[in-house]
Amino acid sequence: MTQDLLDLLDVAGLTGRGGAAFSTATKIRVARKHRASLIVNACDGEIGAAKDAYVVAEHLDALVRGASIVAGRRRVRYAAHRGSATEARLREAGLDVLSAPGRYVASEETSLISLAQGGLARPMTKRAPFVRGGTDSEGRRIRPTLVLNAETVWRVAQVVDHGPEWFRRQGLPGEPGPRLVAVGGAVESPGVLDVVTGTSLAEILAVAGADPAHVGPVVVGGLGGVLLGRDEALRTAWSSAALAEFGGRIGPGVVHVLDQRVCPVEEMGRWLDYAAGESAGQCGPCMFGLPSLAADWHALADFGPEGKPARRRLAQRAQSLVDRGACRFPDGVAGLATSALRVLDDHLAEHARGRCGAHPDLRRTDERHSFTH
Ligand SMILES: Cc1cc2nc3c(=O)[nH]c(=O)nc-3n(C[C@H](O)[C@H](O)[C@H](O)COP(=O)(O)O)c2cc1C
Ligand code: SF4
Repeated sequence: MTQDLLDLLDVAGLTGRGGAAFSTATKIRVARKHRASLIVNACDGEIGAAKDAYVVAEHLDALVRGASIVAGRRRVRYAAHRGSATEARLREAGLDVLSAPGRYVASEETSLISLAQGGLARPMTKRAPFVRGGTDSEGRRIRPTLVLNAETVWRVAQVVDHGPEWFRRQGLPGEPGPRLVAVGGAVESPGVLDVVTGTSLAEILAVAGADPAHVGPVVVGGLGGVLLGRDEALRTAWSSAALAEFGGRIGPGVVHVLDQRVCPVEEMGRWLDYAAGESAGQCGPCMFGLPSLAADWHALADFGPEGKPARRRLAQRAQSLVDRGACRFPDGVAGLATSALRVLDDHLAEHARGRCGAHPDLRRTDERHSFTH
């Protein structure tokens, strides 16, 4: 059975739906060898993420079946943000729930493993090879633990139910299988769609009820994603291969449409402020670098002579954040800021001239947008 499952998943080409898109069969193969327990990550930690809540609400039986197929007799825990509807549903179903604080980095896999072992829900800075288990450099014993995204686990059950060919037939050959995407922002019907790679982003936005007259730039992949210009977004396909042209990828399956009538420079400022507040405060480059990145962005946006040097600083700072934290959080935010610099070039030039008028109907908004999970 073990071998059969791994073969099925290899043939299906299932990759993780939590962001990094690593081969699921490979992860399970190592986990089985080391008798790892399983954490099903249903936190939806990314801004605008909602797909794992959908899996729990609509496909709980298949999710639980998928988890027992993956874990066999080993322990399975379901991670969800504390106080969320997802957590309540998992508890009602009598499942073993791991309650993560509603912070962005709490849903990163080593945060969940730390939490599961009685520690804080923060990324492990001194890592142990967590799927295999071992002792980290602080002498803590880490039990072998596999973390899989909830959609990934649901897809495992689907591959078993419908066969790997059914799965492989859908989407692009290099990125096979159906996948969920949560669409939000300036759309009439925000929600979760089950789509395949290669579908145009324009079609996805249309299904979510986006009014083309109001579509502005589009964030694909949340805080760890990229900003696409409106026209770029409307001509791009929903696939990591197509998004690579812009330095992006499908990632955790979130698309957020900015309203063309709202200043995108300010909107990005809010996203970067939020990111700065979510650093786990453990790694210098992340703890100090993200607030500086946000401060540079505000200097750039603030209609004044500070703009030019701030722009140069921001570009350099974003570069210097890459690969410096214990987790990928700062890398993701740096990528988003870099893409925003490119896409909002005209807007930023207007701001530097003391105006915000790239669109005649553009208005400034002072309303603070708070991102909650
Ligand atoms: C800051 C941060 C937050 C994350 N939040 C989530 C999350 O909410 N849900 C999730 O499944 N993966 C999240 N991930 C990715 C996980 O660390 C992990 O890669 C994933 O759960 C593995 O599952 P997969 O192989 O099925 O994709 C996050 C990663 C980072 C760096
Ligand atoms: S990079 Fe940031 S979020 Fe990640 S572990 Fe370090 S301080 Fe925490």
